[in-house]
Amino acid sequence: MALRLGDIAPNFTAETTEGTIDFHTWLGDSWGILFSHPADYTPVCTTELGATSKLMAEFQKRNVKVAAVSVDPLESHHGWIKDINETQSTTVNFPIIADPNRVVATAYDMIHPNADDKMTVRSVFIIGPDKKIKLTITYPASTGRNFIELLRVIDSLQLTSKFRVATPADWKEGQDCIITPAVKDEEAKTLFPKGFRTVKPYLRYTPQPNR
Ligand code: BEZ
Repeated sequence: MALRLGDIAPNFTAETTEGTIDFHTWLGDSWGILFSHPADYTPVCTTELGATSKLMAEFQKRNVKVAAVSVDPLESHHGWIKDINETQSTTVNFPIIADPNRVVATAYDMIHPNADDKMTVRSVFIIGPDKKIKLTITYPASTGRNFIELLRVIDSLQLTSKFRVATPADWKEGQDCIITPAVKDEEAKTLFPKGFRTVKPYLRYTPQPNR
């Protein structure tokens, strides 16, 4: 069965371009992003890994570790990284997991046979420090992912794990948040000392509480 939000992210041991890892141990107390690539030496994946490398300081600022996975072997990953560094003007700075036996791809249901029976789709899993899955996204092979969106989601996940707020459509760090419906107005006055505005009884905005 496919993994669902709140499930424990399956653990595994795998060879990566930065050495062998036990996934849960490698994650430690960090947040994690695990994302799959259809295959090495493919154009869209090349741009995605370059984009991720360039954003690594942003991921680190948020205490997020990033790992990519593809079903190609380790030697192939090492050769491909040279191309990524050259063509994307970057240095790949996170592990790429070699998954030739599809252990990780199977555990995370990354092969969708009706799309392609050999290559993985573009899956993304965001994993919390409690090792639970907080977000899943699946893109087709033909569409490169938006890594700025992943940072935005991480900001929302980290905020909403600490405060009783949710974030509205297209929210960005620093913008007003929504008070979760379970919080009554009386309680909201204490929880959100900056105040709140009520558009409807179920739609109340408050300034981002941790800024
Ligand atoms: C790519 O990464 O460029 C790609 C991989 C598989 C199918 C189509 C594109």
